Amino acid sequence: MKLVSSLLETSLPPPVHVGIIMDGNRRWAKGRGRPRIDGHLRGMEAVRKVVKGSIALGVEYLTLYAFSIENWKRPAAEIRSLMGLLRLYLRQEIKDLDQQGVQVLFIGHRTLLPDDIVSLIEEAEEQTKGNTNLNLVVALSYGARQEITAAAQSVARQVEAGELDVSEIDETVFMKHLETAGMPDPDLVIRTSGEQRISNFLLWQVAYAEFIFVDTLWPDFSDDDLREAINEYHRRERRYGAAG
Ligand code: IPE
Ligand code: IPE
Ligand code: MG
Repeated sequence: MKLVSSLLETSLPPPVHVGIIMDGNRRWAKGRGRPRIDGHLRGMEAVRKVVKGSIALGVEYLTLYAFSIENWKRPAAEIRSLMGLLRLYLRQEIKDLDQQGVQVLFIGHRTLLPDDIVSLIEEAEEQTKGNTNLNLVVALSYGARQEITAAAQSVARQVEAGELDVSEIDETVFMKHLETAGMPDPDLVIRTSGEQRISNFLLWQVAYAEFIFVDTLWPDFSDDDLREAINEYHRRERRYGAAG
């Protein structure tokens, strides 16, 4: 096990996998009379803090919901500026993430993304491959229902090809066809901005995750808030349907 930070209230191990639905960027900007993009820009700074915090706290997997498949329905101008910020982030941060020992991975529909962003994503994955301080999974153009549907198609293709018998399909086999194959399920999911919904995030994987909803808007979220959420997680009792 990794060195567990003394920053937490207890000596319990930190959650292995934390997922965050980073919400509230536009409301943050609106509240300040600033353009939406300012909210997204400040949101990027929150990402930096939370990545550093996750490493310090000993979290092994951090999945950040950055752009949902449904977010393609937003106005073209907002999508353009979001893609612009993403380009900036990928160009500026990858070297730094690599130096921090972070392995960066992406889940989501790449075919919908601009070609140059797909290239940057591939380069980021290649450059940070094998780093072990933190696995940063970025859910981009991601939708859980689409992921599950694609997994069902992939399983069906194996059956059709005679490589798999229908009776062999179980949870373990099915999970191997998800984009998160090989990753542990999230232990803790945090959503910022006061909204209490999942918005198509990791539906299969969060079956037994603990959920923490905070009112803080994403650009204001910090490593202190992450620590507080983990302290709250440690106060919960996970029962998995068994006796308490
Ligand atoms: C989260 O903030 C970022 C993305 C979904 C891309 P929003 O842009 O959803 O901001 P709010 O929730 O409307 O305030
Ligand atoms: C969820 O936020 C998606 C991301 C944080 C990337 P949204 O703002 O898109 O979700 P809804 O529309 O409030 O459900
Ligand atoms: Mg939102």
